[in-house]
Amino acid sequence: MSERTTTLVTTIPQLREQRDALSGSVATVMTMGALHDGHLALVARARELADHVILTDFVNPLQFGPHEDFDAYPRDLDADLAAVDGLVDLIFAPAVEEMYPVLPPTVSVTAGPAGTVLEGAQRPGHFDGVLTVVTKLLQLTRPDVSVFGRKDAQQLALVQRLVADLHLPVRIEPVDIQREPSGLARSSRNVYLSEDGKQEALALSRTVTAARAAAPSASAIRAVLADALDRAEVTWDYAAAVDPATLREITDAHRGEVLIMVAARVEGTRLLDAAVAEATAP
Ligand code: PAF
Repeated sequence: MSERTTTLVTTIPQLREQRDALSGSVATVMTMGALHDGHLALVARARELADHVILTDFVNPLQFGPHEDFDAYPRDLDADLAAVDGLVDLIFAPAVEEMYPVLPPTVSVTAGPAGTVLEGAQRPGHFDGVLTVVTKLLQLTRPDVSVFGRKDAQQLALVQRLVADLHLPVRIEPVDIQREPSGLARSSRNVYLSEDGKQEALALSRTVTAARAAAPSASAIRAVLADALDRAEVTWDYAAAVDPATLREITDAHRGEVLIMVAARVEGTRLLDAAVAEATAP
């Protein structure tokens, strides 16, 4: 992959000026910083898809609940710059006041009913905050394509819905989950885990792998997840098999794509994992 000059921009006027100067196609990678190999895989895919890459690095207060880790969320812009230097054209790292002169904003995006189940049930308002900032970042960076990881499966499904429902002129490209050699899904929040916690957290990847292996039987997928919940190796928030279009739990009669989604708390940290399977049998 060829090196490019990376420019840091922190204000909207600077971003508009730099964006206007890019000729050819543009891919946006949205992040909240604390970049890890999972983000680098998104950047690598973005580089394959477009002539230029813009990485956004912004911890969005609107998607954190009052008792969540907004203040403690890991932030290290220098490390982020070093991680993607030469790999992306622009890094947009605005201050909160730049993105939200008024907080909460008077006009925002709501995710609807699919934003209130699973993650949304645990984190009320979270997806309204995500879709609001994603809409703003799409408007500001004007990409041809934007890449999103499959680990945040509900976020990906809702961003796809957002783009379809609001006729936004961008293609959303899903990128597979990046895993540590142990199988643990890479996440910025893994830094909160001890070595024992990382071992405990393997229950998530084991469960999605076993559920996926139970395809093509819809009932077998559901049975694997029910069994994992019963065994309670971790403090599960949910282990669900849902229809990717509606995010409603599938029945044994379901045929077609199934989104397997798990979320659990390990040492006080909320972790997610996911997989896609195809159900063609009872
Ligand atoms: O997935 C994330 O890191 C965030 O939810 C996103 C998409 C950057 C919006 O803040």
